Amino acid sequence: MAAAAVVQKEAEVIPWELFQQKMTKAGLSQAAQDAFKMNYEQLVAGVTGLVPDSEIDPVQQLPRLDDLHAGESADLKDLLRQTAVLKLNGGLGTSMGLEKAKSLLEVKNGKTFLDLIAEQVKHTRQKFGSKVRFVLMNSFSTSDDTKAYLRKSHGDLLDETDVELMQNMSCKVDAATLKPAQYPANPELEWCPPGHGDIYPSLLGSGMLDRLIADGITYLFVSNSDNLGATLDLDLLAYFARTDKGFLMEVCERQASDKKGGHLARRKADGRLMLRESAMCPDSDKDKFEDIGLHKFFNTNNLWVNLRKLKATLDASGGALRLPLIKNKKTVNPRDSSTEPVFQLETAMGSAIECFDDADAVVVPRSRFAPVKTCNDLFALRSDAYRVTEESTVVLAAAAPPLIKLDDKHYKLVDQLESLAPSVPSLIACTSLTVKGPVRFEGGVAIRGDVTLTNGSGKPVGVRTRTFDSVELDLSQDS
Ligand code: UTP
Repeated sequence: MAAAAVVQKEAEVIPWELFQQKMTKAGLSQAAQDAFKMNYEQLVAGVTGLVPDSEIDPVQQLPRLDDLHAGESADLKDLLRQTAVLKLNGGLGTSMGLEKAKSLLEVKNGKTFLDLIAEQVKHTRQKFGSKVRFVLMNSFSTSDDTKAYLRKSHGDLLDETDVELMQNMSCKVDAATLKPAQYPANPELEWCPPGHGDIYPSLLGSGMLDRLIADGITYLFVSNSDNLGATLDLDLLAYFARTDKGFLMEVCERQASDKKGGHLARRKADGRLMLRESAMCPDSDKDKFEDIGLHKFFNTNNLWVNLRKLKATLDASGGALRLPLIKNKKTVNPRDSSTEPVFQLETAMGSAIECFDDADAVVVPRSRFAPVKTCNDLFALRSDAYRVTEESTVVLAAAAPPLIKLDDKHYKLVDQLESLAPSVPSLIACTSLTVKGPVRFEGGVAIRGDVTLTNGSGKPVGVRTRTFDSVELDLSQDS
């Protein structure tokens, strides 16, 4: 990491061996241990990872998916035979109050994310008569539930070779001693998920990278399982294959509402593309960071990786990519703030863009970036503003995505949403819906234009068989 301020602390006295022993005992691969070591060394050295504007050039011009048309002249059947689709499925969606794999949440017409993803893969295979490979990256928190669901609903996929890539666990680090955190009351809590940057050591350490390459798979398309916009786009596949890049990132144009999030940039020192997240920006450059005319693009987390080039890059860097560290400070038992403070060390998959000298990026329409991060997103997705196509993709049926703002106190968690919106209203003609206080949507409700519904009474008020057309209404009296 260029220009990282390195605070020389007592790096040499830190007992790295304790981590090694703990990871070896837990059966973690050499690749997982090497990756953890990279992170741990950054922690101990006090690497800040700050990247001021003076060290980067803004990225202003990129190819656009709409102009590519690369699929038209490609042998798609042959390319698909060399392709694997991998969905990141290690997260729990804790911010929406979920306790199992988020991909098992019902999102549309009684189908889960996983159903729609599985159907998309099957549809592509059928249409092209070519067996594109399918892989789910699970974590210790999501593996059992996901496999049980596949067994019940998509047993054919579960029987395939290498359908599961199991991610590693990461040791929590005691914040005071920088030794492995200890929690004898529940030793499982001494471990945490390593973030989706773990995809690289997981592929390497499990042997799946070598197996895929040996099976003739070169192109890996990776995306979040909660982003139903991330379909296997054949123009992108053909473009990626034709340009023979090691790494291709799908980016979108930043809007005003994205200005706090990270952006793509080019590092002056070596000309490589990189991602600058907000924690990496010095305070003095915050205004430039948020200038969406200057730093125009953000990472969608839809990535294309050439597996042969990944293998070569890993080999050249001693088996572990040096990804910027994301340091999260928590307590060893996250539900008990009186327990010891720890660091959880994570990395992000997209930051590997800086590890490839021939990495590229392409601008895609916003429709390819539709992650469900909040109950507002889920509410809109469940409504008639979106529809499921024959290929099991989800597309916008409304003229524009409705802007949903449900009161955080009453609709933050999926359980809350489901009790207050057993029947999601029609939103196909809705521009925006703001709900303040608990309003229960009981069926037959349509929202048109810009609508604000308020219930200050604290007690849920039900609405049914009613159209709200461009109004601001106080429903408190109806409770
Ligand atoms: P996010 O961290 O944005 O996921 O990861 P989330 O599921 O919305 O999580 P919460 O609400 O913060 O808990 C984006 C994608 O990366 C996967 C997730 O499953 C999601 O598809 N992921 C994340 C992993 O596979 N492994 C990880 O360690 C972390």
